[in-house]
Amino acid sequence: MTIVINMREPDERKMRIAANLIREGKLVAFPTETVYGLGADALNENAVRRIFQAKGRPPDNPLIIHIADFEQLYRLARDVPKEARILAEKFWPGPLTFVLPKREDVPYVTTGGLDTVAVRMPANEIALSLIRMSGRPIAAPSANISGKPSPTSAEHVADDFYGRIECIINGGETEIGVESTVLDLTSRPPVLLRPGGLPVEEIEKVIGKVEIHPAVKGYAVDTAKAPGMKYRHYAPNARVIVVEGRENRVHEKIIELIDEYRRKGLRVGVMATGRFYDADAWVDLGRSEEEVARNLFKALRELDKENVDVILAEGIEERGLGLAVMNRLKKAAGYKTIMLK
Ligand code: TXA
Ligand code: MG
Repeated sequence: MTIVINMREPDERKMRIAANLIREGKLVAFPTETVYGLGADALNENAVRRIFQAKGRPPDNPLIIHIADFEQLYRLARDVPKEARILAEKFWPGPLTFVLPKREDVPYVTTGGLDTVAVRMPANEIALSLIRMSGRPIAAPSANISGKPSPTSAEHVADDFYGRIECIINGGETEIGVESTVLDLTSRPPVLLRPGGLPVEEIEKVIGKVEIHPAVKGYAVDTAKAPGMKYRHYAPNARVIVVEGRENRVHEKIIELIDEYRRKGLRVGVMATGRFYDADAWVDLGRSEEEVARNLFKALRELDKENVDVILAEGIEERGLGLAVMNRLKKAAGYKTIMLK
């Protein structure tokens, strides 16, 4: 049975129910500023194992641990470098995750067998209050079945998990819409493992040069450091094709492709950034990087419901939040992109 708790801001009495479930080793889905998380006590191996089972997640893909105050970081990480303190000061709570050497008490189940641990402090009052009230650090991957688009609303979570987890906290739609930025602080210079809600340019303003892992733009091969990178992700049922390049050329090319696929008898969906397309299904993600990020995963889920065979997506520039957006789009496309000159 799944209890659904509606809450726009933390409500002490309702939150107690969810916090007690966490303490009992149960699964609670909750909103963060990025996407919804599927949470369990990070130090309880059995509870964490249930997250992997529920999601159908490969056991070597580690989870992010969520904390509510900076001191908690010292209980999870063995070594907290100066960069972590400076970045946390500036960006926590917020969409930035650090990878650091783990302490012994953090179970290998949580870290996917790695000696490092990923930690972040989410900028969402409901999430923070759940962590505080449960008195536990909370491991939470995105609350979607493994391989599906991440959930940006409680409805998305319910679509994947209703009846299979103990609780869903419905706190409305998430603001950012793409997951946190994952930064490996065990290397010098630090390495960006996953672009996300905090643009890497913002991080570089504070700590200087950050290396971009080649997987981020889709060139990856060695994925030992971030096992998450090797799995196909965000995949809707339809085939996704990203069209990149100069705006006008992209527009023309997509119109051409709509025609081509429809003549083959296929249903075509388009994800656009401010332009109208006459296709079987059309979603406008918005003009700004922020809007596109916020609407991306919802659009993938919606187009799936329209039963389209092909999704044509307009690419955007890989800067600011655009790097995170393009990373998700390329993954959804299985790296099938058309680059126009
Ligand atoms: O915004 C977010 O980060 C959301 C919300 C719920 O906080 N969570 C999230 O979790 O996106 P998940 O499990 O879907 O993604 C975690 C990512 C994966 O790519 C994983 O491989 C990476 O973080 N990761 C976790 N621990 C790691 C570690 N020790 N070393 C390298 N990468 C790690
Ligand atoms: Mg995920």
